[in-house]
Amino acid sequence: MSRIAYVNGQYVPHNEAAVHVEDRGYQFADGVYEVIPVVGNKLIGEVGHLDRLWRSMDELKMAEPMKRAPLKLVMREVLRRNGVENGLIYMQITRGVAPRDHPFPVDAMSSIVMTAKKTSPEKAAKKAEQGVSVITVPDIRWGRCDIKSVALLPNILAKQEAVENGAYEAFQVDADGFVTEGTSTNAWIVDQDGTLITRAASNSILSGITRADLLELLESNNIKVELRSFSVDELHTAREVFLTSSSSYVQPVVEVDGKVIGNGKPGSISNNLREIFMDYMNN
Ligand code: PDD
Repeated sequence: MSRIAYVNGQYVPHNEAAVHVEDRGYQFADGVYEVIPVVGNKLIGEVGHLDRLWRSMDELKMAEPMKRAPLKLVMREVLRRNGVENGLIYMQITRGVAPRDHPFPVDAMSSIVMTAKKTSPEKAAKKAEQGVSVITVPDIRWGRCDIKSVALLPNILAKQEAVENGAYEAFQVDADGFVTEGTSTNAWIVDQDGTLITRAASNSILSGITRADLLELLESNNIKVELRSFSVDELHTAREVFLTSSSSYVQPVVEVDGKVIGNGKPGSISNNLREIFMDYMNN
């Protein structure tokens, strides 16, 4: 089955899908995006992702390209046309096409593109069984990391540094020495007393939908969590570390900056939370 992309109202072959050279997303990174996981034909956290998409557009004073109901239909059509039962939807909305000039264009229409790709549940399960390593890097991003903007250069540079160091992810660290989040994931630790800690939502991090869904699951399972910033030292000496995102779900971390976490294997709390999250997605 050949891949199909959605571009401004048209379903087109993926390898021909294109936007105009003067699309403001291309020229200014003047756009927002969402990545939505699909498990067994179900869109996971759909309401949360669409709420966040609209919030991102509102914060950037960007016009919606279409209403929510037709957008939901397009997502399902893109999945159907690509035969994706397990995978990810990517959608990007920009301020549209206009002659290059910094102020908002007066009558440009927002652009929207959408793609879907398959992912392998088996591969993800294997990575979760083994755990991954992360490095820490300075957080050099702007002051509105709560907006899911396509302007991702600092994230890309940090992720590249991770890759060059044989790591899966880079956790970014603010000027006070506290971890903000990964380049495309939220960061969590379990301290030596067994307390679960993740940074509170603010302009310094993206309020992850996986993070929010997991927080709800924790509450319904009576598992306590501290919403506070944690230092690099706390990260290095944690009993367990894990990360969350739409593409990684709950992913145990077994090494940070070359230091082994716990016994170098995914910890029991991380494993338990991953199981709880997988149950939630599969049911
Ligand atoms: N990234 N923090 C950042 C900076 C992110 O880009 C993401 C998501 C997250 C986790 O959010 P969520 O649980 O809603 O996926 C945290 C997506 C997956 C990406 O850029 O591919």
